[in-house]
Amino acid sequence: METYEAVISRVEVREYSSEKIPDNVKLKILEAARMSPTGLNLQHWRFILVEDKENLKKLAELSTSGKWVAGADFAIIVLTNPKYPFHLIDAGRAIQNMQLVGWSEGVGSCIYTGFKEREMRKEFNIPSELTVAAVVGFGCPKKKLVGRKNRRPLSELAYSEKYGEKFRLI
Ligand SMILES: Cc1cc2nc3c(=O)[nH]c(=O)nc-3n(C[C@H](O)[C@H](O)[C@H](O)COP(=O)(O)O)c2cc1C
Repeated sequence: METYEAVISRVEVREYSSEKIPDNVKLKILEAARMSPTGLNLQHWRFILVEDKENLKKLAELSTSGKWVAGADFAIIVLTNPKYPFHLIDAGRAIQNMQLVGWSEGVGSCIYTGFKEREMRKEFNIPSELTVAAVVGFGCPKKKLVGRKNRRPLSELAYSEKYGEKFRLI
């Protein structure tokens, strides 16, 4: 799938079929994270691959905004080092790359950011120097999702030269 097509068509997927994602696709998704850029090339992120159904259920229990992760084929916990002011940008870039590569392989995914952090740390052995930036659940979409993106037009979002100036290209 061409990059632009992947960006334009991808939607968040929270309902998954029972189809298993092959290991080579999981690896490709994690490679997409590893190849992502970080500020000063610090590569401070760490990724925990969660595949065990019991652990996925545990993630759901400890989540406040991602209960759907219980139905995912696998999830990736994204950790970053908060001592770098740009750490969440680094997390976002890795997450977006993983989600786009997944999408181009027919794998749906969704991010969530609401969790009981203290319990998550304990359950998944997360060291105190790292923050849980987000969790991303992955799986084969249960149904085909098309045309449900709701985005503001560029005329509301973009300006030319200075804030508030009409955007020139449309
Ligand atoms: C930073 C960030 C945090 C998000 N947190 C959650 C979350 O906690 N739970 C959830 O179900 N979706 C979460 N989402 C998904 C958004 O709701 C979703 O990306 C947005 O509604 C657009 O969805 P669409 O691309 O399918 O149109 C989050 C997305 C982003 C970018």
